[in-house]
Amino acid sequence: METKILWGKELAQETIERIAREVQNFQEEGKRSPGLAVILVGNDPASQIYVSHKERACEKAGIHSMGYRLPSSTSMDEMLNLIDQLNQREEVDGILVQLPLPSHLDPSPIIEAIDPVKDVDGFHPLNMGKLALGEEDIVPCTPKGVMALLDHYGIEVEGQEVVVVGASNIVGKPLSLLLVNRMATVTVCHIKTQELALHTQKAQIIFTATGVAHLIKKEMVPQGVIIFDIGISRINGKIVGDADFEGLQGWANAITPVPGGVGPMTVAMLMVNTLEAYKKRINQET
Ligand code: GUN
Repeated sequence: METKILWGKELAQETIERIAREVQNFQEEGKRSPGLAVILVGNDPASQIYVSHKERACEKAGIHSMGYRLPSSTSMDEMLNLIDQLNQREEVDGILVQLPLPSHLDPSPIIEAIDPVKDVDGFHPLNMGKLALGEEDIVPCTPKGVMALLDHYGIEVEGQEVVVVGASNIVGKPLSLLLVNRMATVTVCHIKTQELALHTQKAQIIFTATGVAHLIKKEMVPQGVIIFDIGISRINGKIVGDADFEGLQGWANAITPVPGGVGPMTVAMLMVNTLEAYKKRINQET
């Protein structure tokens, strides 16, 4: 069996081009540009790279990005004040606080301070709560990107036995909810799961988001499995995913590559969420 590679980069690029055309149409109607404020605290190298990808995508999409690079010593009060100002600014449609934050900053009150209509990450309890209730509004970008890839490649999850590995608030939990909303049978595994292979062995589709390089190997999965690899880590400086991509060739039915699979979709979905937030807000402006 030849393993199909589920690329995300072309779909991400097409999505951004579509947004750029929509933004241009709004501008031709005399409307302002969509605006996204991106807050990065400290100098975590991976976060700096992610934020620069987001800003570059904004440029391509015609979205005005406003970058706030703050020192790691930034206090909770300073963060809450900045968010308060951004909540009030007319031209700011989306507010994104890059995670993880330095350890002295609890992310919960910061995320809760963001106006839910500007919460383009979909991390606010209101947006997460809607997702849990099956009333999806602003959905977190990485899980939304995974669902877009499923749709693009015509992969049906209804009634399928799926396993999500990783239960983070950013990826694993919201992705599990999206899959339940689509009527998949979902098993969520995490760091305390005793025998991961026991679960992955019965999966038709695996979604893995742990950041543990090559965690998912051929011996742990049934032949013909489909794998969505949402993990990013490095081996000797080379970016790799959670799945043993080489070892799974000829065994898995299909697999997303790292890089070039889910990653670019995350950034594209941030553009989608920002455009959606913009549309809702300009409809209220007269
Ligand atoms: N850190 C890793 N992924 C994300 C994301 O999707 N959004 C934010 N804000 N931080 C992240």
